[in-house]
Amino acid sequence: MTKMIEKAPYTSIAKIYDYLMEDVDYKIWMDLIEEIFAHFKTEPKTILELGCGTGSICVELESRGYKMTGIDLAAEMIDFAKTKSDSVNFQVGDMRNFSFEEKFDSALCLFDSINYVHTLEEISQVLDKTYEVLKEGGIFIFDISTEVNSIQNFNGYYEADQFEGFEYTFESFYLRSDKMHLNQITVEHPDFAETYIEKHYQKVYKTEELQEILEKSKFEILGVFDGFEIEEATKESARVNFVLRKK
Ligand SMILES: C[S@@+](CC[C@H](N)C(=O)[O-])C[C@H]1O[C@@H](n2cnc3c(N)ncnc32)[C@H](O)[C@@H]1O
Repeated sequence: MTKMIEKAPYTSIAKIYDYLMEDVDYKIWMDLIEEIFAHFKTEPKTILELGCGTGSICVELESRGYKMTGIDLAAEMIDFAKTKSDSVNFQVGDMRNFSFEEKFDSALCLFDSINYVHTLEEISQVLDKTYEVLKEGGIFIFDISTEVNSIQNFNGYYEADQFEGFEYTFESFYLRSDKMHLNQITVEHPDFAETYIEKHYQKVYKTEELQEILEKSKFEILGVFDGFEIEEATKESARVNFVLRKK
C-alpha cells in the first residue's frame, strides 16, 4: 500500500481545488448574493471575503465591478488565487483573528468556510472581527452546510478521478455523535514526491444555535435564508445563508 503523508487542510489540494469544484457555478451563486444585496437595498462597492480559497468568488465579483479583498488561512490557496488576479487584494489571514485599517461595505464567508470554525466561541470571534472591519450599515453574509447536507448528500460519498497527471480520491463521512463532517482527500501529483492525505473536519451547526449566538452579537439579523433562494430556511435546507447588518 502507498505510504500517505498527512498534510494540513487546503495545502496539497490547492493546485487541484478548482478542478474539484468545476461543477460549482459561481456565477449563479453570485447572482443570488447580488439579489440579497438588492433585496436589502444595499449597493456595496468594497467587499471582504473570509475563507476566499483560490479566489473564485473574489474574481467573479471583481468582474462585476466590486473592489475585492480576500483572506484565507491556507497560504497555498492564496498563492493559487494570486495567479488568477493581480488586482484582488489576496492575503493569508485567519477569520477568527484579523484586522484591516480599511472599512468594507460588505463581507462574505461562503461555501462552508465557517464550518471550519469549530466552536461557538470562535464563531463569536469571527463575528466580532467582521463587525470591526465593516462600515455602519454594512452587510455580512455567511453560509453553513447543515446536517441535512451531511446526511442526505455527502455521508458515504466517494469519488476518484485523474486529470492532467494528478489523481485524487475524495471520501466523505458524517460523524453524527460529534456533529462533525469529515472529508478525506488523497492527492498524487507530479510535483509531489509522496501521496498526500488531507482530513477536513467541518463542524455541523444547528441553525438555531447560530441564531442564538447572532442574537447576542452586535449585528442585526436581517434574514436566515435557504442557501439557494431568498426564502426562510427550513428543516430541509441543505445550506443556510445568514444575512446580518452592522447597526
Ligand atoms: C470550502 S473552501 C471555500 C473557498 C471559497 N470560498 C470558494 O467558494 O471556493 C473553505 C476555505 O476556508 C478556509 N478556511 C478554513 N478555516 C479558516 C480560517 N480560520 N480563516 C480563514 N480561512 C479559513 C480554507 O483554507 C478554505 O480555503
